[in-house]
Amino acid sequence: MNQKIDLTSQYLGLTLKTPIIASASPMHTDMEYLKTLEKAGIAAIVLPSLFQEQIDYAFEELDTLHHYHSAEASSYLPIDNIASGPYGVGPEAYLKLVETAKKTVSVPVIASLNGYTNSAWVEYAKLIQEAGADALELNIFSVPTNINISSQQIEDGYISIIANIRKHVDIPLAVKLSPYFTSMGNLAQRMIDAGANGLVLFNRIMSPDIDIQNLDITSRYSLSNMSEGLIALQWIGLLARRVNASLAASTGVDDYQQVVKYLLAGADTVMTTSALLRHGPNYVEALLDGLCMWLKARQQTDLKLMRGQMSWQKLKNNQAYERSHYIKLVGSFHPK
Ligand SMILES: Cc1cc2nc3c(=O)[nH]c(=O)nc-3n(C[C@H](O)[C@H](O)[C@H](O)COP(=O)(O)O)c2cc1C
Repeated sequence: MNQKIDLTSQYLGLTLKTPIIASASPMHTDMEYLKTLEKAGIAAIVLPSLFQEQIDYAFEELDTLHHYHSAEASSYLPIDNIASGPYGVGPEAYLKLVETAKKTVSVPVIASLNGYTNSAWVEYAKLIQEAGADALELNIFSVPTNINISSQQIEDGYISIIANIRKHVDIPLAVKLSPYFTSMGNLAQRMIDAGANGLVLFNRIMSPDIDIQNLDITSRYSLSNMSEGLIALQWIGLLARRVNASLAASTGVDDYQQVVKYLLAGADTVMTTSALLRHGPNYVEALLDGLCMWLKARQQTDLKLMRGQMSWQKLKNNQAYERSHYIKLVGSFHPK
């Protein structure tokens, strides 16, 4: 079904055969899973993250830590967990994972580092590059609980991490960020100036809940739903054709219609994790078939015309992205 449609896409300077990328997922340590993704038409694969805590731990003087690692303390200081991280892949093993993934699939393999401060861990980016990663995705995330730190200081911190990592690697660098910034466009521009070749909009943040019976704070990592993607859709639409970097849309893709929407808004690529965990790796094929069907119905043979057709820049009437539309919307609401 896909033969006559050219889905070639550019991302971070890489030429991809389709626009759909498998975003970071715990399944991406399984080489059989990666092979299935490739066969189904995935354009590139992002490996699960290696976390700053894991690298910092490896850099610390183990003797000192072990000195205090009594049986009692171990419940507070989960040394093994820190070292192996959530996916059981420590810093050394991560480099091996990059190498093995590169040997297993021929599509680009994007490694992922997840951190929040500018310290020695960023040097690990160089080792990841040497292990053969085609690109690096940097997921910067922390909750700013200190109320004495200004938004400017937080943003400056992000910029300095990006600039520092840029010094250590030549491979393309994407930054995956959360939507919670006051001036997203300005921050995006600063990140690009600091060396980011692309932005992944957005990281999905889990907020804690309260168990009212047991008076406990509960957190659960669930799969996404489509309505969560609207903020990414808006910012892809607002930034497309206005920043000199690739834009990857991420969050809430569960059917081909969402892929079409993100491309219309101006995304260079569309990422998905939850849909593949929910429906299996072969689901990439269904997403691509749906995209091709949409294009064929409009006599389009590639993505050139559709990409960005509904972006803020392209639309003559772009109020739908702005405040005036909000005023219209609230005025149009009628209680039953
Ligand atoms: C179980 C699970 C593990 C994830 N692990 C990572 C990770 O290690 N690094 C990362 O940057 N994102 C991670 N993510 C986030 C996804 O890559 C993706 O950004 C997010 O789920 C939103 O996309 P989706 O709506 O298609 O799921 C994880 C998501 C899930 C569901």
